Amino acid sequence: MERTYLMVKPDGVQRNLVGEIVSRFENKGFQLVGAKLLTVTKEMAETHYAEHKERPFFGELVDFITSGPVFAMVWEGENVINTARKMMGATNPADSDPGTIRGDYAAKLSMNVIHGSDSPESADREIGIFFKNEELISYEKTI
Ligand code: CMP
Repeated sequence: MERTYLMVKPDGVQRNLVGEIVSRFENKGFQLVGAKLLTVTKEMAETHYAEHKERPFFGELVDFITSGPVFAMVWEGENVINTARKMMGATNPADSDPGTIRGDYAAKLSMNVIHGSDSPESADREIGIFFKNEELISYEKTI
């Protein structure tokens, strides 16, 4: 079953949006298989955002994501990677539709509330940065 890495960024945690965001993915029918609150280290941030290393905003990106706790999650389900990205909305909140997470809660590109993997390769890589295998729990529903 497909998995994705989603992360409520420091702005989302400080604005008490964790519950709202988790609810959206639960209500959609995806399964939470791992979650934790953590402070991202500079090293983790630089690895996670390695593809943006040459961009002028890289320093700002690393400073922001390490500035306070994030809520890291792994979700499982059919087409979860693409569906989660649709639910998150466009990266730039100026372009994200109402009804999406960024469309409803974000106003700035640098503080866009949530990160989500953009491909199966990114999901594998990002899950590996933030979670150990034993922290992920797949289970069959019994009720
Ligand atoms: P995210 O999906 O976490 O992936 C990379 C992040 O870089 C993106 O969300 C934005 O928050 C951020 N970002 C992209 N472009 C810019 C920019 N021009 N200035 C500041 N931050 C940016």
